[in-house]
Amino acid sequence: MMLIRPQRQPSFLPIALFVTFCISSRVCLGEIEGGDADVDVLDYSRGKIRAHRFPSVASRIKLYMSNWYTPPCQDDNDGFFRYSYIDDDDNRWPKLEVTGLKDHPLVNQTTRIMNGIQSKVEPDMLFFMDEKTIMNCANYSYDEEWGEKIKDPYMKRIEFRHNMRMYCEDIQDLLLPAWYHLEFEKNLLHNNNNNEEVTTTVGPPPPPTLIQFGDNKQSHIYKDVMVPHIKKFPTNINVEIQRTALNSAHGNYRFQPIVWKLATDRHYKKLNDVYRYDTQWSHKKDMAVFRGQLTGSRDGYDKLLSDEENCHNLKRCRLVYNHGNSTLIHARLTSTRGRMPDVLNGVELVGGKVKIDTLLEYKGIIMIEGNDVASGLKWALLSQSIVLMPIPKHTSWCMEELLEPWVHYVPLDDFATNVEERMQWVVDHDEEAQRISERATLWMEDLVFHPDAAEDDRLIQEEILRRYQHHFLPADKQ
Ligand SMILES: *[C@@H]1O[C@H](CO)[C@@H](O)[C@H](O)[C@H]1NC(C)=O
Ligand SMILES: *[C@@H]1O[C@H](CO)[C@@H](O)[C@H](O)[C@H]1NC(C)=O
Ligand SMILES: *[C@@H]1O[C@H](CO)[C@@H](O)[C@H](O)[C@H]1NC(C)=O
Repeated sequence: MMLIRPQRQPSFLPIALFVTFCISSRVCLGEIEGGDADVDVLDYSRGKIRAHRFPSVASRIKLYMSNWYTPPCQDDNDGFFRYSYIDDDDNRWPKLEVTGLKDHPLVNQTTRIMNGIQSKVEPDMLFFMDEKTIMNCANYSYDEEWGEKIKDPYMKRIEFRHNMRMYCEDIQDLLLPAWYHLEFEKNLLHNNNNNEEVTTTVGPPPPPTLIQFGDNKQSHIYKDVMVPHIKKFPTNINVEIQRTALNSAHGNYRFQPIVWKLATDRHYKKLNDVYRYDTQWSHKKDMAVFRGQLTGSRDGYDKLLSDEENCHNLKRCRLVYNHGNSTLIHARLTSTRGRMPDVLNGVELVGGKVKIDTLLEYKGIIMIEGNDVASGLKWALLSQSIVLMPIPKHTSWCMEELLEPWVHYVPLDDFATNVEERMQWVVDHDEEAQRISERATLWMEDLVFHPDAAEDDRLIQEEILRRYQHHFLPADKQ
């Protein structure tokens, strides 16, 4: 079956992508053309054309939106979310209430009434976007003393400013422009119909944009969030229940957040270093390297257990401990975060931090997830080294769940106990291994550097917001 890339519209209206697409009335948004089968028909043996080896715009929208892909239809009034702003005491920062109107087979209606949502930016907390707060948070040159001096009201609305900035930047750079563009498009359509002048509007259109930053799967206060909201990764990334696109909000699945490209700084910034420092496959050492810090209690650390038991239970620690003398594996922790001695039973657990150029000297790069997607995974895939990792349990904008073992990486068992055997395979199958590393490089190229990549992102992000918007009752019907 031939796969035809959707026709690009040079203009700002990507309408040709959509079979049914209606922006003015509250009808269902249609299926996106060619979206369904794409992921299945990817043929990895024919990797020359991007569409044959990388998911299409249409299938990525489904993947990222999961339950929220299909908004309710016009005649399904109960399917919408209702929202209202409630003025707070000082009248300055309203709070938001959001209610899902329909019962869900797995979710009690009461848990879908969410009160007191704020527009304050803090980690692991659902909030609704306030544009000025986001801009303030994203300001790289923001000087807190200066903020105090001029009594900047936005200053106190951002907690852990240092950690939140990279998220705010992504909202400022990727989400706000998409909202503006949709608004522009809407006005243009509206005004064309009425033969009126194009009016300009200020600020993103309603409904409220719900977002959560940080690594936590749940939200403080709200726990599992049952309303559409934007996040770095889905809540429940179980490899067996992969994100199934097109489960509508009323299917038998737990609600998932909408995945957005967030924390770009941490996850994508090193990509440029790879181009700068990488060396050819043939110049790399026949060994695999691991560097990473010990991750947290969510991964099994228990302060009541002995160091040895803890090390055994923690994937990264066990990998390092078991390969102290290996001639194939060079694994060290960069930090034990005070949870483990630097040397355990004579085995050195901690090695100094090393720069990316040192890691790139090895043919194999071992990735072990911590609380989240392994943050180095993106540069490791892009590099000319080969990634060895357990099947990923976390996924993000990079679509880790679509990476195929033996195609994009060499799979390890969950605790990486077979890492020596697999590295030996790499050594014994040099050419095959190099092909795998090339396929991984292509994945990252296709995602980030391909000439179509930026436009794909833009189309995806705009369509995500278009669909997001249609889950909420319009303001005049609230
Ligand atoms: C919903 O509430 C009922 C009674 O209040 C309870 O028995 C049931 O377990 C709840 N269901 C869920 C999915 O929380
Ligand atoms: C960013 O912060 C600096 C100093 O704190 C301030 O002078 C500047 O106006 C701010 N920029 C924006 C866009 O808010
Ligand atoms: C590593 O080598 C040292 C010294 O040769 C030896 O004492 C130790 O038992 C070895 N450790 C393992 C885990 O094999």
